[in-house]
Amino acid sequence: MKIGLISDIHGNLEALEKVLEYLTTEEKVNNIIVLGDIVGYMANPNECVQLVKKYDCIQGNHDFAVTHIEFLDYFNPIAKEALLWTINELTIENKNILKNLPLTKLYKEENFTISHGTLINPEEFLYLYNIYDAYENFQVMETKLLFVGHTHVPKYYVLDKSNSPATIEMTSHIDYDYKIQLEENKGYIFNIGSVGQPRDYNNKSCFVIYDTVEKSIKYIRLPYDIEKTAQKIKKNNLPNFLYKRIFLGI
Ligand SMILES: [Fe+2]
Repeated sequence: MKIGLISDIHGNLEALEKVLEYLTTEEKVNNIIVLGDIVGYMANPNECVQLVKKYDCIQGNHDFAVTHIEFLDYFNPIAKEALLWTINELTIENKNILKNLPLTKLYKEENFTISHGTLINPEEFLYLYNIYDAYENFQVMETKLLFVGHTHVPKYYVLDKSNSPATIEMTSHIDYDYKIQLEENKGYIFNIGSVGQPRDYNNKSCFVIYDTVEKSIKYIRLPYDIEKTAQKIKKNNLPNFLYKRIFLGI
């Protein structure tokens, strides 16, 4: 079975449409899973919620914030301004969809768990940045694999239990068609990057495919019509930095 995992769409309709089309027609995945932050930052929150609502989705911090105004103070001024715009734009139906999403989900048969930020206290939307964070999360994992998003930077961590004590290795700077063969006696945490606003100095959408038969994870980068997304940011008077950052991948 092939599973497409995507995260941090952030209202970027052009990027989302491109990625969904690729996953369904090119890769012919059996299932698509969304790791949160469907809205926030860019100009098509309603369209993005409607496009992904048929898939398994979990809640990101931006999805949570649209129905919890008191949570807005945790955001930087640019994110907060975009969220206030998003709250005004979202329909009640779409707000309810976001509000009712779970924070984590465990897939027992396929041996993986998903969370937006971390598996420890997922409601706090903490960041899994480094080996220390990975170590803590490996301690509470009930599955071989954990997929997260939130940082918008693709990265993965491998726990090797055959060493004593167990070791953890981190790999970043992931580019096109990067494939990892899963091994016995190892645990993995994958940060799957961002569809709508990548921040690893690469402006192409980032996502992964988990092949449960081949036992592999493939990272994919896909270009989309950035100019079209950027024009909508301008037209809706969203913060100018949001316009710049999608071209730069920051
Ligand atoms: Fe995000």
